[in-house]
Amino acid sequence: MENEIVNLVIDGQKVSAPAGSTILAAAQAAGIEIPNLCFMKELKPYGACGVCVVEVEKCPKLLRACATKVAEGMVVNTKGERAMKARKLALELLMGDHDGDCQGPCKLNCPAHTDCQKYVKEIAEGRFADAAATVMETFPIPASIGRVCPHPCEKACRRRLVEAPISIAQLKYFAADQARKDGTLRAPTVAKPTGKKVGIIGGGPAGLTAAYKLAQWGHAVTVYDQMPEMGGMLRYGIPAYRLPKDVLKAETDAIAALGVTFVNDFKIGRDAKFEDFCGWFDAVIVANGAWKSTSMRVKGEDLSGVWGGIDFLRVVATGGKPDIGERVAVVGGGNTAMDACRTAVRVGAKEVYVVYRRTRKEMPAEDIEITEAEEEGVKFKFLYAPDEILGEGGKVKGMRLQVMELGEPDERGRRKPVPVAGKFEEIALDSVIAAIGQRNDPEGFEALPQTQKGTIAADEGNFATSLPKVFACGDTVNKGAGIAIGAIAQANEAALAVDAFLRGGEYKPVQPILSEREVTEKDFADRERIARVAMPQRPASERRNDFKEVNLGLSPEAAMAEAKRCLECGCHDYHDCKLIRTANLLRTDTKRLRGAFHPGYVEKELVAIERNQRKCITCGQCVRVCEEIAKKGILGLVGRGFTTVIKPEFRDPATIAGCAECHLCVDNCPTGSLRLC
Ligand code: SF4
Ligand code: SF4
Ligand code: SF4
Ligand code: FES
Repeated sequence: MENEIVNLVIDGQKVSAPAGSTILAAAQAAGIEIPNLCFMKELKPYGACGVCVVEVEKCPKLLRACATKVAEGMVVNTKGERAMKARKLALELLMGDHDGDCQGPCKLNCPAHTDCQKYVKEIAEGRFADAAATVMETFPIPASIGRVCPHPCEKACRRRLVEAPISIAQLKYFAADQARKDGTLRAPTVAKPTGKKVGIIGGGPAGLTAAYKLAQWGHAVTVYDQMPEMGGMLRYGIPAYRLPKDVLKAETDAIAALGVTFVNDFKIGRDAKFEDFCGWFDAVIVANGAWKSTSMRVKGEDLSGVWGGIDFLRVVATGGKPDIGERVAVVGGGNTAMDACRTAVRVGAKEVYVVYRRTRKEMPAEDIEITEAEEEGVKFKFLYAPDEILGEGGKVKGMRLQVMELGEPDERGRRKPVPVAGKFEEIALDSVIAAIGQRNDPEGFEALPQTQKGTIAADEGNFATSLPKVFACGDTVNKGAGIAIGAIAQANEAALAVDAFLRGGEYKPVQPILSEREVTEKDFADRERIARVAMPQRPASERRNDFKEVNLGLSPEAAMAEAKRCLECGCHDYHDCKLIRTANLLRTDTKRLRGAFHPGYVEKELVAIERNQRKCITCGQCVRVCEEIAKKGILGLVGRGFTTVIKPEFRDPATIAGCAECHLCVDNCPTGSLRLC
């Protein structure tokens, strides 16, 4: 009866609702959330998705809240175990036939989840300052990181299944350089001061990123570093021919311009006790990096002429001229080894060897770094390991090398190098540079609990240590040294945790639930092959003599052409998608019931609306909106069962011409299946 009010109980709460309203409407009016997908208040209830089911007392069946009317005395439980299980199952079934990428693999594979797809698109559209700003939502030093990052994003880039990945890292630094050159690089806004003080130990990628974020959120941040200038390993470990010092300086200056105070030549233990330092601030982040070279553990390592890789690079970076002689061997196969051998060439060594115990295929260094080192005259000795450093008069005179061969794969799938019994070789040398790894220096930080590796122990999620108000991130914690963008990723989490702590809360990161496609080359067989744009470089004969940048940078035209190759893998609707929001709410396993997908193609036949049948969950919402609200009835569910797809009814041009372009179907699709083109 009209105006009649019905009283019921939902989740133990007394609720009154007009007679004739649904359980879902009554719950929503009372502020109780019931997940739903196919419900729309302007449409007749349809009950297609089954996500809104609830338990009702004395009713053996689960009921669809969107289609069930309220009744006097009804007792509803929206959070019962049976209902939750059924919802989850309903959603898992829907997701099992949902073939879409919420986010691009590039973004997912970037440890800091930088929005690569977004800035690549902005570059494609010539919006270089917007692209730089997009990167700088994640970290403050795009021109530096773009030059040095081993770009895990590119390793996952879908374009590799067509011909070659997008040059994501080079595009990143192009955007930052270009925006700086044009004077359009934007500084982020800084919130009102909170009155809280944060002390950060370490001015490398992690410390700088945490400072940049915390300063934007209104905290007074001071960064302390043991070296004369900020930048950490980017300044003192990466040679200038890869990352010019002025590029880094411009980026650290911009962080200072946000109000961050820099204090250099400051070392914990020497200039202040860690406990005293903590007393100066409301929160502290330890991000002091990994500055000690790992030892090779071979005889002769104490001879004069034996260098640690990062020690050697630091001497050169600070303007020193290390006396390494003419014949140098660099031991190791990572990027630091490549930096060391190429630097040795530039400081005058005539014969430079890289000694690596596996083959080129197993080298962790970037392939381009190996190629460039070869071009500059470095000789590679694969399948050799140092056995003894030979000396005379306390000085290096050579190295005995153990010949190796590859054995069984190790736990990471890499074949283990094993010594070939009795096979050795000697080379004459003036210096040996050990670039096999680096570790943190715990001196001064004894108050902080350590891992078995000797790194600082911090929570893997929010980077809190067991000391109150002290957080730690980057190369100095847990697993130890990694790549710069990995340290940046941790710094972002630590900054969120510090901010929450300073506001009296606690930060608990939650892993988002996402839909991800599984694709092969076949899925992209129809794509035109377009060559990856090549980075112009100085010739090896010239560049091997100096520290000027090797890469000459992309032109705006080349950068735009490169960016246009992007396949735009991530879904345009991610931020509005009801399907993925509900999947997160219910913590759904999106792959558990994955089977064959229903017809998977993208159609663009109805005026300006593209229909991605792969993402459609056949909820019928678009069909009903078109019929009941737009009064056009153009769309229909065509086919039966598993093969059902959304199409303009009868595929009749006259009907299609009647589309009002109201885009009500697009706006009300709970997934990213429809989009205006
Ligand atoms: S439609 Fe939703 S769930 Fe599917 S890929 Fe797009 S955002 Fe992810
Ligand atoms: S093609 Fe574009 S969106 Fe896809 S992974 Fe590569 S850069 Fe990212
Ligand atoms: S395209 Fe239509 S049927 Fe498919 S998910 Fe979107 S609204 Fe539902
Ligand atoms: S069945 Fe109720 S919202 Fe879909």
